[in-house]
Amino acid sequence: MRPPCRSICGGCAKIADKGTALARGKFITIEGIEGVGKSTQMSRLVTAVETAGYEVVTTREPGGTPTAELIRDVVLGHAEEPISDIAELLLMFASRSILVENVIRPALEAGKWVVSDRFVDASRAYQGGGRGIPMDRVNDLADWVLRDLAPDLTVLLDAPVDVAMARTDRRGDHDRLDSEKAEFYTRVRQSYLDLASGEPDRFAVIDAAGTLEEVSAAIDGVIDSLMGESESRKSS
Ligand SMILES: Nc1ncnc2c1ncn2[C@@H]1O[C@H](COP(=O)(O)OP(=O)(O)OP(=O)(O)O)[C@@H](O)[C@H]1O
Ligand SMILES: [Mg+2]
Repeated sequence: MRPPCRSICGGCAKIADKGTALARGKFITIEGIEGVGKSTQMSRLVTAVETAGYEVVTTREPGGTPTAELIRDVVLGHAEEPISDIAELLLMFASRSILVENVIRPALEAGKWVVSDRFVDASRAYQGGGRGIPMDRVNDLADWVLRDLAPDLTVLLDAPVDVAMARTDRRGDHDRLDSEKAEFYTRVRQSYLDLASGEPDRFAVIDAAGTLEEVSAAIDGVIDSLMGESESRKSS
């Protein structure tokens, strides 16, 4: 008897390659500092992709698998014992490696789209820009852990730090990163904007200071153009 697939249909994807080639799904990430509205806008974005007829897997970082969620609890928890910047960086990439191998790659290879609430740019912006770890170190880890995997589209929700902080204050919960000072978030925000200007084709920067409806409409526009590219590639 044929053994069961080790991952979500890695075997089936290979079979599909021989006959009807299965198109790889698209990988979309949502980034931005705390409180800009990533989680709020995620469902709208996912609905737009599903309405276009694609199956979507949603996930988040740190976390997204049972083991990676345990790492999330460690990184964002309120333990008395301090976590060094280096440990934080390595824990983020440990969580990311598990998520990539167990969820993201298998889903994309099975033709599904993946939408992630934060991904590798968060390490560049928080551990690099925010904590001051040299960006080369972050990028070396990214190359090692991700190999050829990169988001097709990164939606960067951008808003002034005081706007975002006012929203998290209203939300009322504070994890370890939430308790950092405004200057930290200012550095993180700037780092995200620098990443976006370095890779303008991958990033869509959206003004997140507006109303929920305004931000949602801007996201819809970005998804529409990604769909357009996807469809024109299918028919060419
Ligand atoms: N455009 C908006 N206008 C007003 N309030 C908003 C807007 N977007 C989100 N909010 C509210 O701001 C709060 C923070 O939003 P959300 O939790 O989606 O942010 P987030 O980017 O996911 O934050 P975190 O990084 O901490 O997970 C929520 O209470 C949400 O309802
Ligand atoms: Mg969130």
